[in-house]
Amino acid sequence: MRVPTPRQYLMCPPRHFAVTYAINPWMDPDVPVDTDRAVAQWTALRDTYVRLGHSVSEIEPQPGLPDMVFAANSGTVIDGRVLGARFRSAERAAEAEHFRRWFVENGFRDVTMPAETNEAEGDFAWTGRVLLAGTGFRTDPRAHAEAQEVLGVPVVSLRLTDPRYYHLDTALFVLAEATDTRPAQVAYYPEAFSPGSRRTLERMFPDAVLAGADDAACLGLNAVSDGRNVVLPVEARELAERLAVRGFEPVPLDISELRKSGGGPKCCTLEIRK
Ligand code: ARG
Repeated sequence: MRVPTPRQYLMCPPRHFAVTYAINPWMDPDVPVDTDRAVAQWTALRDTYVRLGHSVSEIEPQPGLPDMVFAANSGTVIDGRVLGARFRSAERAAEAEHFRRWFVENGFRDVTMPAETNEAEGDFAWTGRVLLAGTGFRTDPRAHAEAQEVLGVPVVSLRLTDPRYYHLDTALFVLAEATDTRPAQVAYYPEAFSPGSRRTLERMFPDAVLAGADDAACLGLNAVSDGRNVVLPVEARELAERLAVRGFEPVPLDISELRKSGGGPKCCTLEIRK
């Protein structure tokens, strides 16, 4: 029996969502984007979290920052400590300050802005014991050491090798955090990682749920779990079945408009761990 735990999320409505530049292979500025449709899909995602018993805070979207909807990239919060973001691309750089201000205005006292490039939960995944940290495309490996120092948690570096899976959260997610009696559980797509990182994941998570190429290719691993319910893109059918076999409850959603920018449910969702 899987037990969900209530979560607190920060999200940014995609009122200014667009694909006007290309900083990952999913983005093609020539493909039209329907902003109203993005807002409708995002609203369904937010309402799903609320229906599942989670609380959702919203940050005001800013004109000229079309990727600001991907809130996961803008902060890593563990035990109420916040490590802000520093984006790799100039197009997204200004997002970091809007989120920093949100944290400060919402009572977070321990907010550190990083010296090294880090795209927050895009590349950082908290297992309850260690912070899994991706590198290869966006987050600088030096940011892994910085995260360990600032957040005071052990960090395990993982190397991504496939440009379609440019952030760790496109290739891996935590299904259930570790407890005193149970190790953490994760799902991932092995082919997205370097050989050494794959072996590391096998060692750390011998009974992980492994996803196949089709589930990865719809960004099925960009999922959000509360320990029981797993919100994931509707196209990730095989992965949903594998999760159900393990006792999780798949909650499929249509997030296709945001995928045009290389995003899914997790990208839109920053978890606040108080
Ligand atoms: N267009 C955005 C970028 O390339 C998508 C970010 C998706 N976010 C994530 N957490 N994977 O930066």
